[in-house]
Order: sequence, then structure tokens, then C-alpha cells
Amino acid sequence: MPKILVTGALGQIGSELTRVLRETYGDAQVIASDIRLPDLAAHPHNGPFETLDVMDEQQVHQIIEKHQPQQIYHLAALLSAVAERDPLRAWNLNINGSLHIFEAARKHQVERLFVPSSIAAFGPTTPLDHTPQDTIQRPNTMYGITKVTTELLGEYYYKRFGLDCRGLRLPGVISYTTPPGGGTTDYAVEIFHYAVRNQPYTCYLRPDTSLDMMYMADTLRACLGVMAAESQRLIHRNAFNVTAMQFTPAQLVAAIQKHIPSFVCHYEIDPLRQSIADSWPNGMDDSAARQEWGWQHEYDLSRTVEIMINALRKAQH
Ligand code: SER
Repeated sequence: MPKILVTGALGQIGSELTRVLRETYGDAQVIASDIRLPDLAAHPHNGPFETLDVMDEQQVHQIIEKHQPQQIYHLAALLSAVAERDPLRAWNLNINGSLHIFEAARKHQVERLFVPSSIAAFGPTTPLDHTPQDTIQRPNTMYGITKVTTELLGEYYYKRFGLDCRGLRLPGVISYTTPPGGGTTDYAVEIFHYAVRNQPYTCYLRPDTSLDMMYMADTLRACLGVMAAESQRLIHRNAFNVTAMQFTPAQLVAAIQKHIPSFVCHYEIDPLRQSIADSWPNGMDDSAARQEWGWQHEYDLSRTVEIMINALRKAQH
């Protein structure tokens, strides 16, 4: 059983990934860490927890030395919209913080390191339809710049030091437990909370903005899947395009209206988030992930919408 460290363990993906890893490997094997302290009522963690600010190099080394994990899932990062509001903090956390993790992982002989990338690693000059695995990557957001840089660092640490660094270009992730914080794709989660309360939602993206999306259960399987893949089969290793569905706000609204016909969505465009979304793919080609390690999504739009509405309705009672 590997010992595993998760950074950003209280975030949208981290909180669920920690739960799944603990179910798989045992509570004691998985060390959750985050810059914040857990709200134990909301996140009853059954295993070890460390307060960790990945921007603090010494603390990163201390915690990795103390627990000697064989694997790290490094999820601590600022998302796209908040990164654009505070680009220097985004650089500091997403680049310097990640560099501390790469270095500590190398020094302490961590066997496998997961560092997620994003659809944000592409930019306006990238082919936006069926975006290939290998293509132009000139993002124009600070978040995107940090994601391309960590993709390259992951490749560098693998080639130069043999650190087995793996990753995915994740799309917008849809889930009903922990909310995402400060991303451009957050509308696709928020909208459900309004819909089940029978309230109108005001969307900050244009109704025709197509983006890649994925339900959380698929996201978790993708993270574990790329980490479990046989090393020799991997050509791309640290930045696989992965997607499950593409939709626009208008298409999502229509899918929700099949369950809640009275649901209404208004549009009030936020120029910052619209320009970010416009620079990202309409839909990625993820055939490399499908070929190299058998990626396959299970949740399409209608299944995701049904699960989200049922789960949030249940939570209301
Ligand atoms: N969901 C992320 C964001 O919107 C994309 O990586 O920032």
C-alpha cells in the first residue's frame, strides 16, 4: 500500500480524491494537507491532516520528510478567474509552490507525482475545435501560463531526474459536494444550486460559449487512472487532454429544463471570465489518453444533470 500525500485536500477535487484514496488504500495511508484547517463538521477527515502552505519551501520538505510518501497528488492551486485578479499570487502559488513540490519529491525519491493541468493550458491561437494533444500552447491568462509551465516542469523533472510526474488537462469539473473556487467554469456548478431552489440564475458567460466539462466521478477515475497506468505505455505522461462532454450555457439550461421546466437563466456577461473562456477550446481531442492508458468517460450531460439535481434536492431535505 503506497503512502500518499494530497495537497489542496480541502478543495473541490482534493476533498473527493482524498475520500476515494482513503477508501482504496486505507485512512492512515493518505495524508491530507491544505493551507486551511478543515471544517471538521463539513469534512470529517478520518485520517492524518497537515496544515501545509506549499509556498513555504521548508514546510514542504518537512512534511514530505516526515511522512515519506511514495505518491503525491499536488492539487493546491489558484483557479483561472482568481488568478487573473491576483496574477502575482497565482504565479507564486502555482509555480513556486509546485517547484517546491517537484524538488522535495525528487530529493525524497517520491515514486509518482500527479500535477493537474487544465484546458487553460491552451490559448487563442490553439485550434479550438477538437484541440489536439500536441498543438500550439500560448495561453494569455496567468493561470494558463502557470499550467503550461508546470506541464514543462513535469516533463523536465521526468527526463532530467527520472521523477515519474503525471498529469491531465482537466476541463470544468462538476460536483455537488465541495464547490469550486474562482474558476471560469464554475457556472456549470452554481447553476444547479439555483435551479433546485427554483431561483433564476444569472450566467456570466454568453449562452453560446462551448467548453469541455466532466462529472466528478469521471475526474477521480481519470486521476487514479493516469497514476495507475503502466509507465512504458505512456508517451505523453504529464499532460493528457481528458474530456467527457462539451456544452454551452444554453445547452446546459435546456438539459436542466427537462427536469425543472420553470427554470430561467439570465445572462450578464463578465468580460474577464468571457475572455478567458473564449481563449479555451470548444472541445478537446482526448484520444491520446484513451489509447495510452484506456481513459473512458462514463457520465454525459444528461446523466450528470440528473445526478446533480437529485443529489442537491436530497441535500435540501
Ligand atoms: N475549472 C478551471 C477554471 O475554470 C479550469 O481549469 O479555472
